[in-house]
Amino acid sequence: MTIEAERVGTRAGFELVERAEIAPNVTLYRIRAPFIASSRKAGQFVMVRVCEGGERIPLTIADGDPAEGTITLVVQQVGTTTARMAQVQVGESFSDVVGPLGSATHVDSYGTVVCVGGGIGIAPVHPIAQAMKAAGNRVISVLAARNTGLLFFREEMRRASDDLRIWTDDGSEGKKGLATHAISELVEEYGKLDKVVAIGPVPMMKFVSKLTAELGIPTLVSLNPVMVDGTGMCGGCRVRVGGRTQFVCVDGPEFDGHQVDYDELMRRQALYKEHECASYARFQKADMAGTSASLDGRSLRQPEADPQKEGPR
Ligand code: FAD
Ligand code: FES
Ligand code: MG
Repeated sequence: MTIEAERVGTRAGFELVERAEIAPNVTLYRIRAPFIASSRKAGQFVMVRVCEGGERIPLTIADGDPAEGTITLVVQQVGTTTARMAQVQVGESFSDVVGPLGSATHVDSYGTVVCVGGGIGIAPVHPIAQAMKAAGNRVISVLAARNTGLLFFREEMRRASDDLRIWTDDGSEGKKGLATHAISELVEEYGKLDKVVAIGPVPMMKFVSKLTAELGIPTLVSLNPVMVDGTGMCGGCRVRVGGRTQFVCVDGPEFDGHQVDYDELMRRQALYKEHECASYARFQKADMAGTSASLDGRSLRQPEADPQKEGPR
């Protein structure tokens, strides 16, 4: 596998060419990365380092334009690094954007494929819906979120699908209910579903997989454990699938949803919660004090690393 891994400063290299807030705390970033744009496949991700000294975080390539040489990331601001990312302005650059990483989605002619995106999971399911449709499948997409304000990519998903359904927990847009309700409805309506792809919060993937196991529908999920290097070397992203240890960054990120140990995944996702909350609280305090460019005495360009995430676990 060839991977683009350039190290650049913040004024040249992986330039941010467009950014837009597409939902509260959800930002779309279009980044110049010609090699990744021309070689990426559905299901793959990049490791992004906002600035020198910062941690690397995995982000799915939600879209790309090889002619323009750009990739699109859709990022929910949940902590320090995603908040730092939101401070980068159009015309500035990210230090490292490494990829494309991970195995591409296995795309075949399955028949009727349901693509479920829950919350920020709408971003990673988008290229998969595109690829499934391009392979001749009938693609039914389900966008699910707690409320209407958290939905995005409606038009993009409509274009990538033969049929689009919207479900919200509170009924503020589309039908009221959960992703599992949407699948039950589609089974009643379409009869046979040949594949389900579900990406979103772990509980959503867990319960969708439980339902589709009962219904006998093959199901693919994309897992999001904490990653450190993203290249199979640190062991940080290990999960149990079918009783075997797998490294999500190289063996995944997609797995058979019926085989995943979701409870272990949730436990491992929460391992660094205390440090992450403390780090974010320091960031927000500095931001409110109007010193967002200077965190704990370090420049935004050279932030503290997250030592708790370094090294093997
Ligand atoms: P923190 O406060 O450090 O962490 C908040 C929570 O995010 C943690 O509790 C943990 O569950 C998770 N997290 C923290 N660090 C990491 C890490 N190094 N790797 C993975 N998860 C972490 N998010 C998006 O918004 N859009 C995407 O397209 C997207 N794609 C992803 C693809 C993959 C393959 C994986 C594994 C994760 C993806 N994520 C995506 C999740 C994203 O990486 C985390 O939200 C981000 O790293 C949080 O960083 P933070 O410093 O802002 O938050
Ligand atoms: Fe997968 Fe290190 S992030 S092995
Ligand atoms: Mg972090």
